[in-house]
Amino acid sequence: MSLRISRAKSVTGQFRPPSDKSLTHRAYMFAAIANGVSRVYSPLRGEDCESTRRCLEAMGLQSNELPTGFELTPVGEWKEPTGELDCGNSGTTMRLLSGLIASRPLSATLVGDESLSRRPMKRIATPLKLMGAKIEGDQAPLTIHGGTLKAIDYMSPVASAQVKSAILLAGLRAEGVTVVREPSLSRDHTERMLTFLGVDLQTTTLCEGTVQHVLEGGQTVKPFEFTVPGDISSAAFFLVAGALFGEEVVATELSLNPSRTGILDVFEQCGLSYTVESPKSEMNEPSGNLVLHARPEPLKPFQISGDLVPRLVDEIPVLAVLATQAEGTSVIKDAAELRVKETDRIETVAKHLKMMGANVETFEDGMAITGPTPLVGAKIQAKGDHRIAMAFAIAGLIAEGETVIQGEESIATSYPDFLEDLARLATY
Ligand code: S3P
Repeated sequence: MSLRISRAKSVTGQFRPPSDKSLTHRAYMFAAIANGVSRVYSPLRGEDCESTRRCLEAMGLQSNELPTGFELTPVGEWKEPTGELDCGNSGTTMRLLSGLIASRPLSATLVGDESLSRRPMKRIATPLKLMGAKIEGDQAPLTIHGGTLKAIDYMSPVASAQVKSAILLAGLRAEGVTVVREPSLSRDHTERMLTFLGVDLQTTTLCEGTVQHVLEGGQTVKPFEFTVPGDISSAAFFLVAGALFGEEVVATELSLNPSRTGILDVFEQCGLSYTVESPKSEMNEPSGNLVLHARPEPLKPFQISGDLVPRLVDEIPVLAVLATQAEGTSVIKDAAELRVKETDRIETVAKHLKMMGANVETFEDGMAITGPTPLVGAKIQAKGDHRIAMAFAIAGLIAEGETVIQGEESIATSYPDFLEDLARLATY
């Protein structure tokens, strides 16, 4: 199947983005380890989070559908799954579940689709083995023989919330005090939510930006009720579309966790302004309605590097599309992690942007894009990468002629209603 996109006249209006993927994964997992019944409202019903819920159910979690979510009842002792645990396309499912399984007396084999089977798992297997788990495989399929773990003091070579969370979740049941350090702060949902659920987890920034997380084993997690706010990584597609057309776009009930809002810093660099209305916080997670104002001036180029990268890592494909229309050279560096996402996003983005007429140079850890250049429609191979499919759907809205996106089924992993929102916000 393919998706055909033609040039739009404008993109403007209000939308409620799909619920946050990272928060939904965590809500399901924390419900599975809580000491009571939890309720999760408005979870993301995309494929990635459904994989997490199904895997947890295979180990004993009971989920009863409510009109707007799930009531989740955990089992005291997780049971060993009878078959393989299918994580689909989801790195978060595979990596965080590995930490939970490693610290329980059971064995499980985690498998994934073609893209997930290529992604690096050594980054979680190494620390979990140091804690005492037996793990076969550095890539999926991954067989984990869990049991009693001992705490470790570990410096992660990458700022990755998936690595940090896998270790902290294993540390919850390990003997002793687990310490994880990361080179800069990756998204901190695990820390915020677990702290809210009664876990004593201390985070401190050390010298040179290194961030340290400390947690003692043997702590329990309280049950909870949580309404999942919208996902800024998904909202990014229509926010960027608004910025490209210079029109106002409003994303309602949007998660605004500061470790995820790097895109707003980029918008400011581009000369765009925004306001936040009706701010609130639930489970230590801030959210609100984000109004991205209409743009009076041409777009300015932007620079992304260092600590900013983990704060917008999933938004880089669509920000690269934005860069093609900025007046000057935008530079993205320190982003080598993009090479091990659902596809090598540096290569996939650069190749297709060049096919559409953009001026792009790639480096090992990023790219430089010089604009503004008019774009022309092209045939995009999304290769099972949802964010590539959606970023190029947005590029297609400003391109002359037709843009054909192959492999667009992957959009369902994170944004099941993408086409409905596109139809509502775009006029042709
Ligand atoms: C995620 C963390 C990020 C992000 C991914 C979801 C999470 O990956 O790219 O889409 O939910 O923890 P890394 O932590 O590996 O960078």
